[in-house]
Amino acid sequence: MSDDGLKKIISHAKEYGFVFPSSEIYDGLSAAYDYGQLGSELKNNIKEYWWTAMVRMNENIVGIDASIFMHPTTWKASGHVDAFNDPLIDNKDSKKRYRADVLIEEHIAKIEAKINKDVTKAKKRFGDNFDEAQFRNTNPQVLRRQGDIDSINTRFKAAMEAENLASVKALIEDLGITCPVSGSKNWTDVRQFNLMFKTELGAVSGDSGAVYLRPETAQGIFVNYLNVQKSGRMKLPFGIAQIGKAFRNEIIARQFIFRMREFEQMEMQFFIKPGTQEKWYSHWKEARIQWHKALGLGEDRYRFHDHVKLAHYADAACDIEFNFPMGFKELEGIHSRTDFDLKQHEEYSNKKLRYFDPESQESYVPFVLETSIGLDRMFLAVLSSSLREEKLEDESVRTVMSIPFALAPVKAAILPLIKKDGLPEKAREVLAQLQLHHNVHYDEKDAIGRRYRRQDAIGTPLCITVDHETLKDHAVTVRNRDTMKQERVPIAKLPHHVDEWVSMSSLFRA
Ligand code: GAP
Repeated sequence: MSDDGLKKIISHAKEYGFVFPSSEIYDGLSAAYDYGQLGSELKNNIKEYWWTAMVRMNENIVGIDASIFMHPTTWKASGHVDAFNDPLIDNKDSKKRYRADVLIEEHIAKIEAKINKDVTKAKKRFGDNFDEAQFRNTNPQVLRRQGDIDSINTRFKAAMEAENLASVKALIEDLGITCPVSGSKNWTDVRQFNLMFKTELGAVSGDSGAVYLRPETAQGIFVNYLNVQKSGRMKLPFGIAQIGKAFRNEIIARQFIFRMREFEQMEMQFFIKPGTQEKWYSHWKEARIQWHKALGLGEDRYRFHDHVKLAHYADAACDIEFNFPMGFKELEGIHSRTDFDLKQHEEYSNKKLRYFDPESQESYVPFVLETSIGLDRMFLAVLSSSLREEKLEDESVRTVMSIPFALAPVKAAILPLIKKDGLPEKAREVLAQLQLHHNVHYDEKDAIGRRYRRQDAIGTPLCITVDHETLKDHAVTVRNRDTMKQERVPIAKLPHHVDEWVSMSSLFRA
């Protein structure tokens, strides 16, 4: 799928009440979105799937809900005040601001596109005998272009590592990068821009009252490590999970809900004995990819990307990337964070954050394995892999969202065949029987075929039709969204039948 694919998702999401631009009546706010009536249901279901997998299915993981505002020293200790920066540059003519690293990445992407064009042309020319790997490794033009990419990457990496922003600007100038708006090369110097939102607490103004909106939920877990360990009498290894909002003043926030300034994270910090991090890193990589795959969005939509340049606190890190409409992008991070965070908090708070190991009879600062996934990105992953148009046998086309049944916002629609003869009353009885267990909808408007299409378009797994026979045989017709097959089910067995199809536990059965 392309940018065009993303546009389709955005307009479908708006039309059916999944996602709206924020404060739209005032023309919206850039990169802020509101989840609508179906979107908030889907979001809650994703959270429930994650929380169940983390907290309910693991005896040694507990969940917390820390506040968004934290003592400002937290962010000094974590490194965010000094190092949570993006390099930015302004164009003096258009007055537009850019991330210097993104300008360079986009320049590289253009060279990559040229390579791909060379490959496509050669493929056409050589037909079935074409060996792409060999072509990429030997074609002089491709090799020259790849050499250009490598040297840009090397220069950029060296400049960033040396914190030499003048070199970053020189690279932009040497590459002849122009402003997409003004077309000019009239750039300011590159400056570091801190991504944390700063505000003031209560009536105090000035730096003494300054607090930040948390840029990650993880620090709320670290500062509560000892509270949870002691009050829950937790033994290593154990984990603390949390779902909550995070805020980053991203310079470029775009691609719908992929990169926003206010977003939600689902993070888990797993506290372990130093020296066991390799084992737990593999364990959590495997556990997290299985969590994704159990949804059935398509196994080839995921890949691991190992970080080459590790953050100063990590001894191993990778992303789970998902094939979004814009290509493979980061969905989740798995980081072996060593004892960096707890040690920093020990130093800045002057409080011991140690664990007394009853087996080895020693006291130490635990190491931490982190899994961190963006809820909004997960939402986009579900939406973008579900929306499709399907040609039916009679040549008509239906729009269907094949959202995994357990995550679907509406689990079943109860549809009286017609609006009279006692069918609506019977249908409402069925509704009452099911609505205690699942989010189910009642719909009596329009012909039954149109009602099916409406439910397909929002991803409802089951349509339950109440017809004249129902009044005699106390059974209903249940239509499956994906197969469109219909079966007759006695009303008495309906709660169990619906449950079998849509309950969250189906995701854990495999
Ligand atoms: N505690 C580690 C941490 O925050 P991160 O890679 O910066 O790591 C984790 O963020 C996840 O949060 C990402 O994999 C992504 O899914 C999500 N995320 C990060 N920035 C985001 C943004 N601006 N908008 C939406 N999601 C974002």
